[in-house]
Amino acid sequence: MTIHYKSLAVRGVQRLQPYLPGKPIEELERELGVSNTLKLASNENPMGPSPLVMDVLSAAVAKEKIALYPDGNGFILKQTLAEMLKVSLQQITLGNGSNDVLDMIARAFLCEGREAIYSRYAFAVYPISIQSVNATAKVADALPVDHDTNPYGHDLVAMKALITDKTRVIFIANPNNPTGTWLKSAELHEFISSVPNDIIVVVDEAYFEYVEEDEYPDTVQWLNDFPNLIVTRTFSKIYALAGLRVGYAICSEEIADLLNRVRHPFNVNSLAIEAATAALSDREHLEKCVEINTKGIKFWRAACQYRGLDYIPSVGNFVTIDVEQNAVPLYEAMLKEAVIVRPIPNYGLPNHLRITISTAEENQRCLDALDIALKQFPID
Ligand SMILES: Cc1ncc(COP(=O)(O)O)c(C=O)c1O
Repeated sequence: MTIHYKSLAVRGVQRLQPYLPGKPIEELERELGVSNTLKLASNENPMGPSPLVMDVLSAAVAKEKIALYPDGNGFILKQTLAEMLKVSLQQITLGNGSNDVLDMIARAFLCEGREAIYSRYAFAVYPISIQSVNATAKVADALPVDHDTNPYGHDLVAMKALITDKTRVIFIANPNNPTGTWLKSAELHEFISSVPNDIIVVVDEAYFEYVEEDEYPDTVQWLNDFPNLIVTRTFSKIYALAGLRVGYAICSEEIADLLNRVRHPFNVNSLAIEAATAALSDREHLEKCVEINTKGIKFWRAACQYRGLDYIPSVGNFVTIDVEQNAVPLYEAMLKEAVIVRPIPNYGLPNHLRITISTAEENQRCLDALDIALKQFPID
């Protein structure tokens, strides 16, 4: 008997598209015979981690730490985070990347018959987490392309309109990837206040440390007022530890206890725990990364304006540019220049390229590659 295993999977999984990661450098270099490739496709930090992280990692490997299971509670890291954020240790849940935390939230609060809401163009992991537990994803329309302050951004009115008695979780990315759009403190506070408190509101702040806007919310301060709020953050972006996989949630102790029930044992490895703890102690490195990114945002805005290219105003470490045609041929032309950026048709944005912001030199190299691509595929 031939079995179609797809038919055995839960319905939500049958309908899922696998997450598409950016092309690895090695694969591209093999395929195209290029070298010295610049990868600006996955919003990693080109500055790399703090030198303190590198010291701690070398020492950790020398101690043969890897033969033993890690501290299953990640005590050192949680304690450092708790002190920094002025919350209790019990309010922090560590994840194997913040994706892991998003998944824990889905496993703890969602199942068949329950609904979760997110915005169009929101981060691709939300539908994966929701559908993998067979819950229903409700996708709110985003703000229109010609919106004066927040084009492509989360439309909180549209999101609220999707709430039903089956809604259990709302995912908000602030800033969002791949758009880089963000919500101001007042509007987000008002929204969360208006959501019934038996619905979990997740504010995903993977790019939190990059944002320099005065009106960007300090959501951790709101945790006492909103027991249904979960804030997620990561060490993959500004702390440049994407390869080690560590992220975390901050929420009420009661919700953290539930997340910890579904958390896989030893989900964060020993090296990641030590590296993340060391990364938190290097404020200077973090500030330097913010400064370089802010300059990079200005560079890309000016470059786009000069070329008459529309871009989505981003406050993250990436910029998403409208190339007014299928972006894949431009992406391929840039690959030939040994520069990897990210076309994002999987987000319903087939005419956009997402480019990770880098150092001045690398931004220029990427722009040169984009210019070469635009010569081959000019915009009418
Ligand atoms: C908005 C957003 N949330 C969460 C993540 C997950 O990051 P990680 O699992 O590496 O912490 C990303 C990564 O790209 C992201 O863009």
